[in-house]
Amino acid sequence: HSAVSRRDALKLGGGVLGSVGALSLLAPPARAKPWTWSPAGSVAGSGSGKDPRTRWDPEADPVIANVIEHHDVPRINAALRSWVRNDQQLPAGLPNELRDFIEYARVLPPWTDQGKLAAGFEYTKKHGTIISALYAFASGMMSTVIPHEARAVYYSQGGKYFKDRIAKTAKLGYDIGTVNAYGPGGEMIVTCVKTRMIHAAVRHLLPQAPYWPANAVPISQEDLMITWHSLPTTIMQNMLRWGVPTPADESVGYLHTWQVCGHLLGIRDEYIPASWRQADIQKRKVLTPVLAPTREGKALAQELLKLGNDLDLTLLSKPILGAFTRFILGDRIADWIDIPREPVWSPLLEVSWGPYIAVREGVLGAIPPTDNAYWLFDEFLRQFVLWYMSELRMPISIEIPTMNRKF
Ligand code: HEM
Repeated sequence: HSAVSRRDALKLGGGVLGSVGALSLLAPPARAKPWTWSPAGSVAGSGSGKDPRTRWDPEADPVIANVIEHHDVPRINAALRSWVRNDQQLPAGLPNELRDFIEYARVLPPWTDQGKLAAGFEYTKKHGTIISALYAFASGMMSTVIPHEARAVYYSQGGKYFKDRIAKTAKLGYDIGTVNAYGPGGEMIVTCVKTRMIHAAVRHLLPQAPYWPANAVPISQEDLMITWHSLPTTIMQNMLRWGVPTPADESVGYLHTWQVCGHLLGIRDEYIPASWRQADIQKRKVLTPVLAPTREGKALAQELLKLGNDLDLTLLSKPILGAFTRFILGDRIADWIDIPREPVWSPLLEVSWGPYIAVREGVLGAIPPTDNAYWLFDEFLRQFVLWYMSELRMPISIEIPTMNRKF
């Protein structure tokens, strides 16, 4: 459809827009077919079946737009910094409309199942390190080849402070895996509701940027589901591919932690898959076909590969992180984001990662890889955890942006 995007571009005097790459936002969507995923497969079990590409967040969007236009956002951010735990009262002094929205948005969905959440925690408890590594190298890296997401992140305020952004996203990955994620004392409800507010802010701000097409409101319900699939659906597919022991109740439980997260992020229940089978079907429809390289995504991927730089962790070097990314996401995606094959680690991963995971994650009768491979992978994961914990030690506060990225 490049011909069509060129035509649309010409209508808008495409040269300028083209130079910053926001162009294909104007193009017709990669999914030319009508929306066909049935709400019968959702946690709601029924629904309007409306195309999620034409829906955003009608509850959050007007409230946050009004906050940005008419209230003192830095003061509100400062007040909300102390709102951390699920069971905490909201700070005083928020605009009424915002307070009402948050009180509404922080309520768990009626279909929340505490038993499933507990089983989901068991899974994270046993395999937390591997799951965290997958959040970074499968989900995080994949976000750079999801064009809508890569562009929204690149052009929003946080795009400039990408390191900070990685830490905030790592917080969500951490919070969802804690014992009490959605209970009193946990932090996941707060993290989700704050993130929902950030997304609403981005919908308000980005269309005002000179380099963003004015009518292209980002982060539709479909975009949210696409990114959602880069997280739990992609993680579970890798866990199964690697043979990590995954009893049915833990598998369903892990899915449930993400179903609740989706709801709290403002995704309509009629789009949230009720089962892994439904998730796999929806992922094939919405995520797989949109994956593509963009200039913005390539820039973000190169930033992600530098994540180990500050800590002098030798195994988190750019070539080794690249090799992991190539191994997990495959050659096509690695080529798109300009990650070269690494001569030592790429073959080592291909031969020895499977046996290593089998031994590490407790597969009965697993045959270990060579000592050297075992040691290297163990040390890699140890350094990854060091990095991860250092990211989480900083005070992390998800805050409402007031502007787009300045170039
Ligand atoms: C911000 C998570 C979907 C674009 C954030 C933040 C989190 C997060 C934790 C706060 C971090 C920060 O403030 O930097 C998620 C999750 C998603 C999702 C779990 C889906 C399940 C999306 C989608 C897009 C998007 C679909 C775009 C198409 C952004 C942008 C920001 C943001 C632009 C703000 C960056 C800034 O600070 O300027 N998201 N997100 N997100 N997200 Fe998402």
